[in-house]
Amino acid sequence: MADAPERVEVAVTVNGRLYRRSVEPRLHLADFLRRELGLTGTHIGCEQGVCGNCTVLVGDDAVKSCLLFAAQADGMELTTVESLAGPDELSPLQQAFKDEHALQCGFCTPGFLMTATALARRGSVPTRDEIRGELAGVLCRCTGYEPIVTAVERHLQARRGEGRG
Ligand code: FES
Ligand code: FES
Repeated sequence: MADAPERVEVAVTVNGRLYRRSVEPRLHLADFLRRELGLTGTHIGCEQGVCGNCTVLVGDDAVKSCLLFAAQADGMELTTVESLAGPDELSPLQQAFKDEHALQCGFCTPGFLMTATALARRGSVPTRDEIRGELAGVLCRCTGYEPIVTAVERHLQARRGEGRG
């Protein structure tokens, strides 16, 4: 059997910027984002697909980035939580989280924000129960979830009011 390569070349577009790196084949995407690109807004909890804190967008889909090797993301378009805010202001989704007290320690927040961003991109208008189901893959130890669901619901309703689905 042939030896595995020691390094693999990865080229990914993250938040609209192209990055090329040579990485260990088994480096997972969450570590790649944090260690290689310095995008530490993506948080790592369990590293086994349970907590959802590492969620990013691959294309338009919310993906747990600890479950993907960086090499598997080669050629893909990724979006991380760093894409949301401008230098001096929160994004509307982040503002809804702030207004609804949808975070305490904030460790889970990037995962919820990116899951909600994927939901918003779909353009559908889910019910509160459906929102709860969509967010079920992200775990929070602090809030009891209700304010998070409220923040996402409020954001999606505001988008609908603006004619953005
Ligand atoms: S760190 Fe990826 S799901 Fe928990
Ligand atoms: S706000 Fe602390 S884990 Fe969710």
